[in-house]
Amino acid sequence: MSGKSYNIALLPGDGTGPEVLREGVKVLDATASVFKFKLNYTTYDLGGERYLKTGETLPESVIEEVKKCDAIFLGAIGHPDVKPGILEVGILLKMRFTLDQYINLRPVKLYPGVETPLKDKKPEDIDFVVVRENTGGIYTGVGGAVQVGTPNEIATQVMIYSRPVVERCIRYAYDFTRKRNKRKQLTLVHKTNVLTYAGDLWNRVFREVGNTDYPDIKQDYNHVDACNMWFVKSPEFYDVIVTENLFGDIITDLGAMIQGGLGIAAGGNINPEGVSMFEPMGGSAPKYTGQNVINPLAAICAGGMLLDTIGESEAAVAIDKAVSKALESGKIKSLAAGKMGMGTTEVGDFVASLI
Ligand code: IPM
Ligand code: MN
Repeated sequence: MSGKSYNIALLPGDGTGPEVLREGVKVLDATASVFKFKLNYTTYDLGGERYLKTGETLPESVIEEVKKCDAIFLGAIGHPDVKPGILEVGILLKMRFTLDQYINLRPVKLYPGVETPLKDKKPEDIDFVVVRENTGGIYTGVGGAVQVGTPNEIATQVMIYSRPVVERCIRYAYDFTRKRNKRKQLTLVHKTNVLTYAGDLWNRVFREVGNTDYPDIKQDYNHVDACNMWFVKSPEFYDVIVTENLFGDIITDLGAMIQGGLGIAAGGNINPEGVSMFEPMGGSAPKYTGQNVINPLAAICAGGMLLDTIGESEAAVAIDKAVSKALESGKIKSLAAGKMGMGTTEVGDFVASLI
């Protein structure tokens, strides 16, 4: 009941992005009217179509405008006629870097009524959050290639980390674990047995910061390869995970699968001191475009994360509960596109009615 007003930048993007974002907005609006705050939207047509027409990916003018918003809500980026990498680097990564969205937050939560490929695992077994470092590491883009195309070609792509970049991520993860207040356990995921420089930096910062400022949080460590095994065998072991950028990218896709698939996986690109961007993880799914068959639940969940970050936490909890109720009802037959037993817009209406 904040009575506040927020400006949200909408980036519907490509393929099914606009369809899922529409349902996300529908549920945000239902929540705003119950919890008495106001959301003002401005839409920006970034994506494959704009790129093909004008050659622009993320123009400076758009950056300047979204910088002034309270949050950004993204549908999906990815176009079959655009070479892979152009839109990803030109829009998604550029947004992360220029707005310094240094945290990628990925809840891995199995909702009741959702099928997981993990035999005998229940909602209480799959409920953890991955805090992925989101601007550094191999994604920094430092590297090069020589003698390209020759038999002796050499290429490098360097995992770069500075102490401040590691420390701000680790502090965010500890704070998050404390605020989440579940098992108060933070697992560092890295590969310290091989990455003896970068891994050592992460490990020392993890221990120092934890010992000094977070004695109430249990410290735990997994090598990234073992972490993959535990996701499948004992996901109940995790509360919060913190990890570097590429490892986080890889384990969160596995996380999406064990929580029931991309239809329900939401994420946030967060600058805790600035403007954050929220998105369903599913991508633009071009073959389902315009058919009203794509699952909007991930976008709806991303909307919930957006509200939590701008400070409307009660409203965020209401979205989570509504999604939970909708899935528990058994009326949504499957999370897969075309198999939900109802259309994209009907799922949005259903969740909105449960707020
Ligand atoms: C993600 C995506 C991006 C990444 C791609 C599209 C650049 O896979 O958000 O996880 O690698 O971070
Ligand atoms: Mn990814």
